[in-house]
Amino acid sequence: MRTDNARVLVVGGGRHLQSELRRAHSGLRTVVLCRASGLGLVPEPAANDFVGVLPDDAPVSTWVAAARALRQVWRYERVAALAEIDQDKAAAIAQDAGLDYHAPELVEVVNDKHRMRAVLAQSGLTRVRAEMPTDADAAVAAAGRLGLPVVVKPNGGRGSAGVSIVRSPDEVRDAFALAARLGADVGEHGACLQVTPPMLEQFVAGPEFSVECFTIDGNHHVAAVTEKFVDERTHVEVGHLVPARVDPDAHELIVRYTESVLTALGVTWGVTHTEVILAPDGPEIVETHLRKAGDEILELVRDCTGWDLDAATVLQAGGGQVEAPPWDVDDARRGRHYQRCAAVWYAAADGPGTLVNVHGLDEVATAPDVRDARQLVATGAEVEALTSSLSRVVRVRTVGADPDATVSRAQAQVGRVRIEVVAR
Ligand SMILES: Nc1ncnc2c1ncn2[C@@H]1O[C@H](COP(=O)(O)OP(=O)(O)OP(=O)(O)O)[C@@H](O)[C@H]1O
Ligand SMILES: [Mg+2]
Repeated sequence: MRTDNARVLVVGGGRHLQSELRRAHSGLRTVVLCRASGLGLVPEPAANDFVGVLPDDAPVSTWVAAARALRQVWRYERVAALAEIDQDKAAAIAQDAGLDYHAPELVEVVNDKHRMRAVLAQSGLTRVRAEMPTDADAAVAAAGRLGLPVVVKPNGGRGSAGVSIVRSPDEVRDAFALAARLGADVGEHGACLQVTPPMLEQFVAGPEFSVECFTIDGNHHVAAVTEKFVDERTHVEVGHLVPARVDPDAHELIVRYTESVLTALGVTWGVTHTEVILAPDGPEIVETHLRKAGDEILELVRDCTGWDLDAATVLQAGGGQVEAPPWDVDDARRGRHYQRCAAVWYAAADGPGTLVNVHGLDEVATAPDVRDARQLVATGAEVEALTSSLSRVVRVRTVGADPDATVSRAQAQVGRVRIEVVAR
């Protein structure tokens, strides 16, 4: 698409999506404003008219002031954020300039798990009760009120860091301390986007899914329901499968629920990644994000449906009109739009140490049905047993005609890889 002389302020990182944005719109100019620790996530810095860096702890008001000053010189007409971090700044900047972006309130709510529950409870879209105790004693009392098991986690956490499922009262204090510690671990590579206290919420039993949607002019279009595989001990995601193995009724239930959640929260455009548990009495949200799914889920979605949500994201970010996908909305709600299956599976080291070598990856990469086999951590880096998403060392992505076989194949191929670690 040609967009000569149009200019976008890109807030935060976004890695290759920043380059894709320029590639998708020939003639588009970009100005970047990012935090110091996120500078490494700005690819091709010289391809921008300007790259501005703010200290990590700069308040939102400073970002707004900097963006105003930049606008005097570079007259951007759009604001985009292509990663999750600093979406709050993008929202404040856009509001200040009178430009389109998610409302600041929406960004706040999705980054605040406790508040998101409160908002959704008003529309009857969550039955899970949550509390924000201020100390360990209050957490014990809250767990008593909520009933065990409870989930204790940093309120603004990510990567499953600091998440505990507490099944007995004497575990509450340790879980609270862990969530408090990781809730203070902020930054581009930290556990949280901003310093957040622990929250407690009722445990929801059932299989977990994520729902990948793209909203165009207020209409939510489902791309896929993804089945999520979580390590039982650490709750870290260890695999994904598209499409999820659910019958058409359950697929539709999950999709319609997600559409209602997105509407209730006020999502009017863009890509979203919503995590849902299918409880015996219906779907229940874990959280939603105003960004694409991680873990190569979008590659699974593209392989299964042909819809490239990254391409849609950068087209929309540059001011282009994204076309609705070619399938009938009701067909997609019932999962009739998938053309094949795709899975990704991960492996971590058995224990802590220095990563010496990953054996067997080349053979796996060339195996039939394998789309991608990748080492995620540099050789020589310190690794640990599975603790968070960042501990995962290897991933393998497969495609196939049958969901069981596709996910088994991904697991089997990961199993062929040997992660060699030398103890510290
Ligand atoms: N209320 C709950 N009931 C059952 N399981 C839960 C609940 N809350 C969290 N979990 C489990 O913990 C995982 C991580 O929780 P959550 O998504 O809130 O944290 P996160 O740090 O944002 O994780 P991630 O970035 O990996 O998605 C969930 O995917 C789910 O397996
Ligand atoms: Mg999550």
